[in-house]
Amino acid sequence: MTQEQWTAVDRYFTDLLVPPDPALDRALQTSAAAGLPPHNVSPNQGKLLLLLAQIQGARSILEIGTLGGYSTIWLARALPSDGRLITLEANPKHAEVARTNIAHTNIAHASLSDIVDLRLGQALSTLPQIAAEGHGPFDLIFIDADKPNNPEYFAWALQLSHRGSLIVADNVVRNGAVIDSASDDPSTNCLPLSRASVPRQSRPWVAKDTTGLRSRSSPPTNNPKMILDPQCCVSFPQSMEVK
Ligand SMILES: C[S@@+](CC[C@H](N)C(=O)[O-])C[C@H]1O[C@@H](n2cnc3c(N)ncnc32)[C@H](O)[C@@H]1O
Repeated sequence: MTQEQWTAVDRYFTDLLVPPDPALDRALQTSAAAGLPPHNVSPNQGKLLLLLAQIQGARSILEIGTLGGYSTIWLARALPSDGRLITLEANPKHAEVARTNIAHTNIAHASLSDIVDLRLGQALSTLPQIAAEGHGPFDLIFIDADKPNNPEYFAWALQLSHRGSLIVADNVVRNGAVIDSASDDPSTNCLPLSRASVPRQSRPWVAKDTTGLRSRSSPPTNNPKMILDPQCCVSFPQSMEVK
């Protein structure tokens, strides 16, 4: 399929499955008006995140990379009123716009601000603080910040997850560089199966794509599953023992 066909199909499913939403549309408009880069997930990816969080029955979510809060709003809407979402953002301007967008979004007559905790700072500084404060393990972790730090974020995600947590990492395939062993792009090491301190027997089963779900080998029983997708990688560390 050509890029144009992918785009047309994407638009078809968005029109079909993601109706206009005042809060989300407003978040995109205010983010654009404030000059934030359009690096948010797409509407149908946002809906996928919502569905994943709902299917997961998530009560606690960690997001690395807030931007204007677009994906934050999608994810937070999956939470119950006593749920908690911590989102990490390094850029003060992005954080300010996100706080406004989140404050203007309600669920069940309460502001999302009541369940979203936005931490300003470099994620590699705020992640240890979160751990030291006793937050986690989280039911769902969404990694969507600076790609070169993805190996560290993935390691933190493992540390802050529990058996059955869901880890979603955006933009991992990098135009195919993820399978290019000669690539020196650090962002392609975002899921360092060969580098993280994950025992070989506990490493996720990896499907090469989400269309045919072809695998390198049969999925080992009970092992976690990881799906590599052009935009999104989903890992289910069902039985991952990190230590
Ligand atoms: C791709 S955007 C996030 C998009 C957002 N998840 C969404 O879909 O709406 C990445 C964000 O990560 C932030 N970021 C980049 N490096 C960071 C770091 N070291 N720590 C925390 N946030 C960082 C950027 O400022 C940017 O706002």
